[in-house]
Amino acid sequence: MDLPIRPRRLRSSPALRALVRETAPLAAEEFILPLFVSEKIAAPVAVASMPGVVQLTEKALVEEAAGAFADGVRALLLFGIPEVKDAQASQAYAEDGVVQRAVRALKSAVPELLVITDVCLCEFMDHGHCGVTTFDGDHAHVANDATVELLAQTAVSHAHAGADIVAPSDMMDGRVGALRRALDGAGFTDTPILSYAAKFASAFYGPFRDAAESAPARGDRRTYQMDPANAREALREVALDIEEGADLVMVKPGLPYLDLVWRIKEQFGLPTAAYHVSGEYAMLKAAAQAGWLDEKACVLEQMLAFKRAGADLIVTYYARQLARWLRG
Ligand code: PBG
Repeated sequence: MDLPIRPRRLRSSPALRALVRETAPLAAEEFILPLFVSEKIAAPVAVASMPGVVQLTEKALVEEAAGAFADGVRALLLFGIPEVKDAQASQAYAEDGVVQRAVRALKSAVPELLVITDVCLCEFMDHGHCGVTTFDGDHAHVANDATVELLAQTAVSHAHAGADIVAPSDMMDGRVGALRRALDGAGFTDTPILSYAAKFASAFYGPFRDAAESAPARGDRRTYQMDPANAREALREVALDIEEGADLVMVKPGLPYLDLVWRIKEQFGLPTAAYHVSGEYAMLKAAAQAGWLDEKACVLEQMLAFKRAGADLIVTYYARQLARWLRG
């Protein structure tokens, strides 16, 4: 055959493939490990829909964090499950709330580990919505501006406790600007905001809501999280969050929205995170447990795909496992 161009020429050996590889090898410091701390339990509780993920006591959280750090993980994303939930999410911004206490414990035990706190109200509301809510039958009306005030208070309380980065995940309008002003007003001018900027109303969050005990009792999140059909709107959301002061932006979920990881990185160039969410984790675990997929190979391929699409940071429940795999 007369073939002048043969792309396979550059695939003929491991060394040649490495020479022309476009995406840098995965590194443990790019992964963020989500952890759940609960003040309702006396010992760790497994999350059935997320094999390998557990709700932790504060003590077990510190042990897990120290172990993950020893394995090479450099950042975690913290979620809290309070004993008491109410209609104002008061434990979200209580000085001695479950997250605030856990952050203090983590920063004193493993100071070099970056602690990112999820800033949302759903775990702390008795109805499970991400904001101040009234109901009309099964329809939830979330009061945007009242919610934003509570979120800003929450972020400041996390910063007071020692959080290195705050990550609002509620999708209210104007919350990044409000958090920035509140943080600056309290003297936390250097605390970055990682905004869940393009967060979709996704069925892939199902297992997380078991882990965080945050499923809405009535209604759904479609009046605040984004319609999965919308990409241009996601770009607008990101643009707004950047104008309001976001330092890093996130796309969530990850795999079903890789097109947006790409477009957001191309268009804005900010450090861009992808959240490999609970349902994505559960799918891989289930297939691996059934013997249908090679877990390690698939997870590494998935993470590489996030990076190839433009993600700089990846939030994943596999972070500690990845750090171990990458060390060999
Ligand atoms: C809180 C929050 C959720 C997730 C992260 N922060 C749940 C939700 O919006 O319902 C989901 C993470 C995952 O599925 O792994 N608002």
